[in-house]
Amino acid sequence: MTIISSPLGEAESKLAGEALQGTLVELIDISLVAKQYHWNLVGPRFRSLHLQLDEIVAITRAHADTVAERSVAVGVNPDGRAQTVASAHGPGTGAAGWVADKAVVQGMVRILRASGGRLRERISALSEADPVSQDVLIAVARDLDKQAWMFEAQAAEAG
Ligand SMILES: [Fe+2]
Repeated sequence: MTIISSPLGEAESKLAGEALQGTLVELIDISLVAKQYHWNLVGPRFRSLHLQLDEIVAITRAHADTVAERSVAVGVNPDGRAQTVASAHGPGTGAAGWVADKAVVQGMVRILRASGGRLRERISALSEADPVSQDVLIAVARDLDKQAWMFEAQAAEAG
């Protein structure tokens, strides 16, 4: 049943909807991973990482809302249900329990870089189909790249 019409053609809506849905579940997943680390982190860098992880939560939640609302605007229902996120191939956090600061940094770099790569594929796929949805994903990629850099800087040694 079509309740919200789409400004796009059927094929373009489908492509945009898939790209937005894939990004939505990933953003929700990253926000959950970041909270899990935020709570279970231990080590000398606890304080700075604890705060940075909450920045990730805020950024990913805000983008998730924008991405989901763009999906509705092109006539595709977003699906952010827990079971949908859980059944997607998520980034994973490893085992439950304490996690060392170094492992958190490595984990976040891995997750953010992998997500950035998938975003780039979706961004390319939308060049023709829907540059407006593409623009939404570009904004997500820009923020995730920035956060990946900030975690990588903590893992690196100068010299
Ligand atoms: Fe907190």
